[in-house]
Amino acid sequence: MNYNKKTVKDVDVKGKKVLLRCDFNVPQDKATGAITDDKRIRAALPTIQYLLDQGAAVIACSHLGKPNATFESYVKKQAEKGKDPASLTEEEWKKSLKKLSLAPVAKRLGELLGREVIMAADVVGPDATAKAAALKPGEILLLENTRFEKGETKNDPELAKKMASMAQVYVSDAFGAVHRAHASTAGVADYLPAVSGFLIQKELEIIGGALANPKRPLVAILGGSKVSSKIGVINNLLEIADTIIIGGGMTYTFLKAQGGSVGKSLLEADWLDYCNEMMKKAADKGVKLLLPEDTVCAKEFSADAEPITVDSMNIPDDCMGMDIGPKAIAAYSEAVKDAGTIIWNGPMGVFEFPAFAKGTEAVAKALSGTAAITIIGGGDSAAAVQQLGYADKMTHISTGGGASLEFMEGKELPGVACLLDR
Ligand code: 3PG
Repeated sequence: MNYNKKTVKDVDVKGKKVLLRCDFNVPQDKATGAITDDKRIRAALPTIQYLLDQGAAVIACSHLGKPNATFESYVKKQAEKGKDPASLTEEEWKKSLKKLSLAPVAKRLGELLGREVIMAADVVGPDATAKAAALKPGEILLLENTRFEKGETKNDPELAKKMASMAQVYVSDAFGAVHRAHASTAGVADYLPAVSGFLIQKELEIIGGALANPKRPLVAILGGSKVSSKIGVINNLLEIADTIIIGGGMTYTFLKAQGGSVGKSLLEADWLDYCNEMMKKAADKGVKLLLPEDTVCAKEFSADAEPITVDSMNIPDDCMGMDIGPKAIAAYSEAVKDAGTIIWNGPMGVFEFPAFAKGTEAVAKALSGTAAITIIGGGDSAAAVQQLGYADKMTHISTGGGASLEFMEGKELPGVACLLDR
């Protein structure tokens, strides 16, 4: 995939209407709806500010959550959750949509920009089209949640065309959503000159650079609960990395595959052969693949369970692995010490429980002490680094969860592929 894409600096936006796709899919408090982390809104500010300063009229858009765009799809989803379809009302469905309105984002964005953000009540309906038509250079309008339109996730050309008709240029800065081929992330690029914003540019340069031409040695640290969700990443990184460090829940499938006893630990029995194949492939390629020598386990999955350190190959029958142990921490810290580039995706243990956060914290600390380029894939690893207080010590923390994972898998990202090449 070509990562060398035109950016906002390569197009003239003065006096033009710019449709700007952001990823404002921010976490919210379930009870109050308050935004609990505005990192993604802040990440979009440089591009927004630049466009406004250049005299563009900015029509921003984003998805938020996974709303059901029609009453029928709402009923289907609720029925899957065990609710009686006959008991469901359109009113309840509309309430569920209201909870996913972008209005709180417009408010927060306005506070951060220090100017009014005009909010549209729909995406391509009468309110949005009227407000977009009246928008002046230097003003910003935020459309309602793009997933309120049923054509969005289907990448419906009619919806893409309608969105595009409001503007003259399309800028995407929604790195977190570039793995989605949706109307607002990819489809619109068929109808408008399409370029990237500064956030996508930065993510492509740093992650793309580390994958295509890394400063060596390249060490990849892969954690998280499931082998099955990391297969693509392991496969791709086996071709690129010098060392792969394994931690988190997926460790136990690797250990079991190696003949270990894993007790009540997370296990994906269907992936045992795959783990052995990967171990063999790593050995054939001369890639060091490290598994933890010791494990911190517990009798139950709870924050106040007693931590017990054991040899990783002998986890007692009544215990489950919760974190890497002190020997593994020492070995992993040593393995990253002289790295040129480190890519980290997935925590080493149940970092949400302080008693089982030591492995994840030690890895974050080890990364912060190296001279390496340190890249944190989004999602859980980004949350862990943030929660443990190491965020400002890393070279780059990706704003994408699934997007950065697919990037590291070497997959084509539709929201990037649709942008103009340099
Ligand atoms: C994310 O949070 O990873 C992005 O905003 C994409 O969201 P999605 O998984 O709902 O498409």
